[in-house]
Amino acid sequence: MFFITTAIDYTNGAPHIGHAYEKVLADVIARYRRLRGEEVYFLTGVDQHGQKVQQTAEKEGIHPATFAKKKTKLFLNLWKKLGVHYDGWAETTDDRHKACVQAILSDLKERGELYKKGYKGHYSVRQEQFLTDRDRNEAGEFGPEWGEVVEIEEENWYFRLSAHAEWLKNYVSSNPDFVIPGFRRNELLGALANPADLDLCISRPKERLRWGIEFPFDPDFVTYVWFDALINYISFAGYLAADNAGLPDFTSIWDAGRPVHVIGKDILVPAHGVYWPSMLHAIGFPDKRLPQILVHGWWNMKGEKMSKSLGNVVDPDELADKFGVDALRYYLVRDIVTGKDADFDLDRLVMLYNQELANELGNLCNRALNMTARYSGGIVATGAATNADDHELRASLKAVTAEYRVAMDAYDIAEGLKAINRHVTVCNAYAERNKPWELAKDAALKPRLDSVLAHLVESLAHCAVLISPVLPDPAARIAAQLRMDSLLDLKFDDLQWGLVPDGHETGKPKPVFPKIVTEEA
Ligand code: ME8
Ligand code: MG
Repeated sequence: MFFITTAIDYTNGAPHIGHAYEKVLADVIARYRRLRGEEVYFLTGVDQHGQKVQQTAEKEGIHPATFAKKKTKLFLNLWKKLGVHYDGWAETTDDRHKACVQAILSDLKERGELYKKGYKGHYSVRQEQFLTDRDRNEAGEFGPEWGEVVEIEEENWYFRLSAHAEWLKNYVSSNPDFVIPGFRRNELLGALANPADLDLCISRPKERLRWGIEFPFDPDFVTYVWFDALINYISFAGYLAADNAGLPDFTSIWDAGRPVHVIGKDILVPAHGVYWPSMLHAIGFPDKRLPQILVHGWWNMKGEKMSKSLGNVVDPDELADKFGVDALRYYLVRDIVTGKDADFDLDRLVMLYNQELANELGNLCNRALNMTARYSGGIVATGAATNADDHELRASLKAVTAEYRVAMDAYDIAEGLKAINRHVTVCNAYAERNKPWELAKDAALKPRLDSVLAHLVESLAHCAVLISPVLPDPAARIAAQLRMDSLLDLKFDDLQWGLVPDGHETGKPKPVFPKIVTEEA
């Protein structure tokens, strides 16, 4: 079992391109692992509690629950539109999740991992946060940006994070694949070099924040949103759940392979790299049951961070309407290296789609099927008159398939796609060189013509399977045009030469990747 999760998205706003990237990336990985023959459970969802949600709801004058539901719908609709197929949906207002968080709080308290402590300090009412001396300006005062600053004394519940610091440091140093890619792990190692001796405040007094999960043994407090949200990875996998809760059996999901959490670089330190492993360790998970963290980078706009205040946020819903879901899914995993940042560039989205899909793969599809229909009545004849050029084409497919596997196993989707494109380019050059349209003029050359067409059709079938994790719908359209209904039921290891049997009748080509025409063009 391959258990893959993503970060759950805050519902204080609408989904943006970063959210879309993460979910498409996880969807591609899930589909690829299925292609590799693995059973997959893909969990994603939304993070509905916390101060930000309460604040934005208050501004709109509605209850946070109503507000969170409304925003959640935007995410649900977008994942449907983008073809993100998950097996489990995590909403943190779900009663089953609340029960799990509360059970964990009680368990941690019994284990002596929690304590209550008073804290006295300056507090910004406007920003709803405690201030430290670092927040003072040169004059030694709290500036006007903080609004009214009051001294408050507040009691809260703390988790003994510091008690696990030594263990965590050792764990991360001795488990190089806890965080991938490696340079992201180095960031965590850097942060752990001088572990703070601070514990984690995991409660908020209700008078300050109502919108959270109530402490089971102290109803004046709700749970800090990160402590609540991280637990989604196990609560929705069935941890401590009743048999009839409608959740998976925890052991078969969590222990049948290594769970992978897909997250963005901003939430590695401290949330997923420090809090989460320490929490799991504290509730008794042995080292070998800890998940792996796959960290992706950020999509930026012209080198700048995307932000509402800069007005440069891209709406994935609009992009999907304007350029199509296929172009958007393709671009999101094609123009970024997993782990690194990239610039979101609409010209490149159009260029990569038109070049690699409309011109190259679309052309191969159109040619292979059109010429088979025109010159052979749609019938594929294999086995006749192969030559060295044919063998080279087969060798290309074999090499590319192996390169694709290496890249995709390493979560390097862009390299996987580039590998497919290399073979498609080889096929189109092969067609130009062998000129079926010339061979068709001479009946004596029919065996050679058959072989060329069969090689193109066979290649197309392989490419449809290889591209299916990224572009499931176009892959299905190609399979339908090939009249190979069960093509996409094949597993990766079935991809041997000879998928298209001798005498197979192909269908009519219809454009799979209509070219995007921009206004300037
Ligand atoms: O952090 N490019 O939610 P969130 C790529 N609720 N990824 C991006 C991005 C961008 N421009 N902007 C954000 C939260 N992300 C918490 C997670 S998990 C238990 C709780 C990614 O809505 C970000 O890195 O702020 C994160 O992985 C995800 O989107 C959700 O971000
Ligand atoms: Mg964020």
